[in-house]
Amino acid sequence: MTTRRLVLTQSAALVGAASAGLLVPQWARAQNSKLRVGFMLPYTGTFAQLGVAIENGFRMAIDEQGGKLGGREIEYFKVDDESEPSKGVENASKLVQRDKVDVLVGTVHSGVQMGIQKVARESGVLSLIPNAGVHAATRGLCAPNVFRTSFTNSQPTLALGDVLMKKGHKKAVWITWKYAAGDEAFEGFRDSYTKAGGTIIKELGLPFPNVEFQALLTEIAALKPDAVVCFFAGGGAAKFIKDYAAAGLKGKIPLYGSGFLTEGVLDAAGPAADGIITTMHYSDSLDTPRNKAFRLAYAKTFRLQPDVYAVQGYDTGLLLVQGANAVKGDLANKKALYAAMEGAVIDSPRGKWTMSKAHNPVQDMYLRVVENKENKVIGVAAKALADSGAGCKLG
Ligand code: PHB
Repeated sequence: MTTRRLVLTQSAALVGAASAGLLVPQWARAQNSKLRVGFMLPYTGTFAQLGVAIENGFRMAIDEQGGKLGGREIEYFKVDDESEPSKGVENASKLVQRDKVDVLVGTVHSGVQMGIQKVARESGVLSLIPNAGVHAATRGLCAPNVFRTSFTNSQPTLALGDVLMKKGHKKAVWITWKYAAGDEAFEGFRDSYTKAGGTIIKELGLPFPNVEFQALLTEIAALKPDAVVCFFAGGGAAKFIKDYAAAGLKGKIPLYGSGFLTEGVLDAAGPAADGIITTMHYSDSLDTPRNKAFRLAYAKTFRLQPDVYAVQGYDTGLLLVQGANAVKGDLANKKALYAAMEGAVIDSPRGKWTMSKAHNPVQDMYLRVVENKENKVIGVAAKALADSGAGCKLG
């Protein structure tokens, strides 16, 4: 009896000590529990394919590390954000409050990102943006715990103005979905094109994710600009390219865009896409060992061709690997974690890139043309292009 009572007393003391954190140091506890990673991405709607490509790319980077981050096993959580801005806060809260994720990876749509940004700023959860380019996330509303691995909405189009003027296109029509991504992509185009001496004769728009382009294409035909420039992506981009050709505009008025227009849609769009010129921080045809190895491994694993979204997902994984390794899996060591991520050089299939002070990639923009279902690189439109980060005060 005495022995048993003693054992009980001792084990009660042990439980007490453990729960007070006396016996197991925090780093050791961190090593033992699984690291919780939450994907908040579109798995339905016009951006569904983009969400899948991002998740695939992310998982690939982690699997290259034996499926672990800083030595820790991973548990994944998923929420379909439907590219629905009105549910952004609620969906991000599900991952942060209910699932208690250590890292939130999301999302694609700029409007939804604003919901994630609010939750990230309030909760302090590590938030990695694998696509959405909304300026505020790395400008006025930037945060120490928010890192973007993709672009800002005006980054690709900032490289486009000069390209049009060099081709002699002095009058352009702009067309897009009317929401943050389209409006901010317009800012980049407007600034670079007007600076180069071009004139935007009309801005056309329709609500996201509407694809009734017919009336707008008729208007473009009547306006007879030298070129048309646009922002569309995903399923809507494939439809725009096909409708543009069907309206008889292909071959008459050259079509330009930020490169999302021709990402992941070339099979669906077919020959209608041939000749479209875009600027983007990636191209399928980048002739580097890094890109070739990535493309081969991705195609083998997922039986799909990777696109810019897959690369961004992959780079999100690479960034997290660098951060997690620096703190040996203890993501609660925020100071060291953020410092490692801020100083990271990402050896990406797109080429090496670094983080700006505001936590957005500093990267090259390639000039590409579509030929036979491929985005072919025809030049570098801008070297080491950084977003202004205007209004962001970090470090
Ligand atoms: C965005 O909403 O920020 C967005 C969506 C799709 C893209 C690019 C940007 O391809």
